[in-house]
Amino acid sequence: MQVVLCKASDLPEGAMKRFELMGYDVLAIHASGQYFALDAACTNKYADLSQGTLDLDRKVLVCQECRGSWDIATGEPKDSPAAFPLTVYEIVLTGEDLVLTFTY
Ligand code: FES
Repeated sequence: MQVVLCKASDLPEGAMKRFELMGYDVLAIHASGQYFALDAACTNKYADLSQGTLDLDRKVLVCQECRGSWDIATGEPKDSPAAFPLTVYEIVLTGEDLVLTFTY
């Protein structure tokens, strides 16, 4: 199903924002001119990844709890203790809107 998350202007370059969709927490990211969307819950201890940080050089999202990290494009774990991938979602800019294809 396709969901309009927000206006593109609500997610400026370098920003990330959490959305709740049908009980799932999804994190939208705008980095290096591209948009990404992935699960917002850490697969280690379910910390809120919207409180984490972006490492734009490595294109990873770093959990604030114990510094596990994931590739923002693929969701694959990059640094321990992250061990399991995050689900990634397709997100596209349609006019002024960011539209996410949500699968669950
Ligand atoms: S709680 Fe996220 S890496 Fe440990």
